[in-house]
Amino acid sequence: MTNGREVSRQGIELAVQQDVGIGQPDSDAAPGHAAALGPGGTVGRTATASPPIRLVGVSKAYRRGAQVVPVLTSVNLTVAPGEFLALMGPSGSGKSTLLNLIAGIDRVDAGSIFVGETDITTLDEADLARWRSRSVGFIFQFYNLIPVLNALENVELPLLLTPLSGRERRERARTALSMVGLSDRMDHYPGQLSGGQQQRTAIARALVGDPDILVADEPTGDLDRVSAGEILDLMDGLNRTMGKTIIMVTHDPRAAERAGRLQLLEKGELADAHP
Ligand SMILES: Nc1ncnc2c1ncn2[C@@H]1O[C@H](COP(=O)(O)OP(=O)(O)OP(=O)(O)O)[C@@H](O)[C@H]1O
Ligand SMILES: [Mg+2]
Repeated sequence: MTNGREVSRQGIELAVQQDVGIGQPDSDAAPGHAAALGPGGTVGRTATASPPIRLVGVSKAYRRGAQVVPVLTSVNLTVAPGEFLALMGPSGSGKSTLLNLIAGIDRVDAGSIFVGETDITTLDEADLARWRSRSVGFIFQFYNLIPVLNALENVELPLLLTPLSGRERRERARTALSMVGLSDRMDHYPGQLSGGQQQRTAIARALVGDPDILVADEPTGDLDRVSAGEILDLMDGLNRTMGKTIIMVTHDPRAAERAGRLQLLEKGELADAHP
């Protein structure tokens, strides 16, 4: 699919972390089409299909030469299956660090992260990568699309790590893009898409592997108010109709209001809040 264009394995791995959003689905793609994305064509997924997430005593510090910068201090957090959780806090408080730990992109210094029965902190790199590609979709503030690939190819990328045929991959990528309302933009390159459309493409990429968990790091941080609202509608739909567990970091109180629960992170410690 790359037509000779080089796509590094690392790029594919990174893309696997990313996810698709769900704006207003195209009329020809009801939310039920999501079932077509499931491994083996799983139908009728519900919120209870997602595993609970439980962080126990998670600590993380970064080392810069001799300097140690503590970021998270013995954080405990439980996210119920199918929950939509918002995480707010001052810049530098460790929100992205916490998301990356939950998504298995970064490693804890101490503590456990249970996703269902699995403590992902005990997995080796290969098992963690496999777990990640099956279980988590990542949505970034700046979309992280690959500029030389069109929307369909970007969404298809995570599936290159699966045994699916090229035809199946493209079919799933098309389904994911139609779910985010981009059926008519599949051959557009990121530079030919608006910010909101790029984030929809990134949401389609996050969704295409049908993960139970979506993590989003300031997904509306680079968007105007209208586009941000559409992305939030999409995420809300993924949560409500597909039962995706969503953990969203945001600085935007309007975005946080859309979540079912709000947690504040300050100086490496979590506190409850009500949106
Ligand atoms: N790779 C790294 N090496 C060293 N320090 C790091 C690294 N990544 C993050 N930090 C430090 O860890 C702290 C938490 O960073 P993090 O990115 O998690 O904050 P954040 O809450 O997401 O902030 P923002 O709202 O600005 O995105 C910061 O003080 C940051 O400088
Ligand atoms: Mg951050």
